[in-house]
Amino acid sequence: MILRSGRLDKEMTDEAAEFTSSLEADKEIFYADIKCNYAHTLMLKEEKIIDEDIADNILHALLKLKEEGYSVLNFDPSVEDIHMAIENYVTDIVGPNAGFMHTAKSRNDQVATDIRLVTREKIKDIQNDILDFMDELVDMASNYKESVFIGFTHLQHAQPITIAHHLMAHVQALKRDYERLSDTYKRVNLNPLGSAAMTTTSFPINRELTTKLLGFDGYLENSMDGVASRDFAIEAIFDLSSLCTNLSKICEELILWSTYEFGVIQMDDAYCSTSSIMPQKKNPDVAEVARSKATRVNGELVTVLTMLKALPYTYNRDLQEITPHLWYSFEQSKAVLSIVSKMLLSVKFNEDRCLELAGKNFATATDLADIMVRERKIPFRTAHKIVGRVVNEATAQKMEATDVTSGFVDDIAEELGFDKLNLPENLVKNALNPLENVKMRQVPGGPAPEMVTLAMDNIKKFIKEERSN
Ligand code: ARG
Repeated sequence: MILRSGRLDKEMTDEAAEFTSSLEADKEIFYADIKCNYAHTLMLKEEKIIDEDIADNILHALLKLKEEGYSVLNFDPSVEDIHMAIENYVTDIVGPNAGFMHTAKSRNDQVATDIRLVTREKIKDIQNDILDFMDELVDMASNYKESVFIGFTHLQHAQPITIAHHLMAHVQALKRDYERLSDTYKRVNLNPLGSAAMTTTSFPINRELTTKLLGFDGYLENSMDGVASRDFAIEAIFDLSSLCTNLSKICEELILWSTYEFGVIQMDDAYCSTSSIMPQKKNPDVAEVARSKATRVNGELVTVLTMLKALPYTYNRDLQEITPHLWYSFEQSKAVLSIVSKMLLSVKFNEDRCLELAGKNFATATDLADIMVRERKIPFRTAHKIVGRVVNEATAQKMEATDVTSGFVDDIAEELGFDKLNLPENLVKNALNPLENVKMRQVPGGPAPEMVTLAMDNIKKFIKEERSN
C-alpha cells in the first residue's frame, strides 16, 4: 500500500483501521478534494515544479474521477481516508507518476482546504434557506399589521403589540443569524493549501495561484495555523447553534399559543399528531421534536470546543474527529430550519382571541400613566403609583381597563393624597384601547403599523441586496 510500505512493517489491525478511519465524514469532501488536488497539480505544472506531461495525466485522471463519482473509488480496509482513496485511483490510471501530485502537499493542508471549501458552500446554502424563511415570514406578518395581540414579559400580560410586530421580532433574530454566518464566511474562505505538513515547503509553490483557482479570498499567513486551526468550525457551529436556539423559541411559542389556555393559533394538522387513547387530542408533536432536535447542535458546539481545548500545535489526528460534528451541525440545523419554517408559515392566528387578550389584564396601563406625565407634568413614578392603585381597585371591582374613566382615576388620586388630574376622557379611552394604544407607539422599532411597515421595507431591501450578491 502506497503509504505504509516504507516506514511500517505491517498493516493496522482491521479494528484499528476502522477505528481511525474518517471515510464516513470524508464523503462530504469528495469533490472538494478533487478540486484541491486539481488546483495544486495545476499550480505545480505552471510553476514548472513537476513535468507538464505528468501533470496533465494527473489532471485528466482527476477530471475523470469527478465525472465518475464517489462510487468508483476503491475502499479496501487499508485506505485511511478519502485522500488516499483518490490518490490510489489516480495511481491506477497514471501509474507511479501519480505520486508527483503529492509534491509540496500534505494531507494536513489538504484536508484543511477541503473542509473550508465545503463549509463555505454549506454556509451559503443555509443562508439561502434563512433568507427564504425571512422573506416569507415578512409576507405573513404583513397580513397582521393591525391585528392587535398581547405582548408578554415573564410570560405575564405586558403591553399590546400586533401579530406583525411579534413575527418581525423573529425575522430580526434570523437576520442576525444570517449576518453571523456571513461574518464567519470571511474567516472560512481562506486558503491553507501550501502549509503542507506544517512548515510549507522548499519547492517554489505559488500560493496566490491556488488561492485564486480555489476561489478563496486570501491565504492563511502562518503554515502552523494553516494546518491546525479549526476555530472556523467552532464559529460556524456556534452560528448554527444560535440559529437553532431561535428556531426552538419559535417552537416553544407555537406550543404555548396552540394550547386551549392561550387559544391564539391553529396549527396546521399536517404538523400535529393525535393521542392513541384520547380521541380529542391535537398535539404539536412536530414543534416539540424540533425544539429538542435544535439542542443537538449545542451539544456539537461543546464537543468541538472540548476537542480543541487541549491540542498542542500543530496537526493532531484529533482534528479529524471534529469534521463529522461540523457536517452534522449543518445537517441538523438545515432540517430544523426547514420544518420550523413550514410549520410557522402554515399557522392561522385567531385574531379575535389575540385582540381579546390584548384588552385584558390592564395591558394598556402604562399609557394611562404616560398621559398623566404628558398632560399634567407629574413624574412618571408618581403616575405609576396612581395607576398601580387604579388597577388594584378596578380588579377588585371586577372592572376591565376599558371601564376605567377619568373620574375613577381622580377618586384614586385623591385617596392617595394627590390633586384631581381631570384627564380628558377621550385620552383615557384611547390610551386604554389596545389598538389605539399600539398606534400611538410611533417610535422607530415600535409596533405602530407605520413603524412595522418601515422595518418590513428595510428587511425586504436587505433580502434583495443579499440575494443579488
Ligand atoms: N483524515 C485526516 C483528517 O481528516 C486527513 C489528514 C491525515 N493526516 C495525517 N497526518 N494523518 O484530518
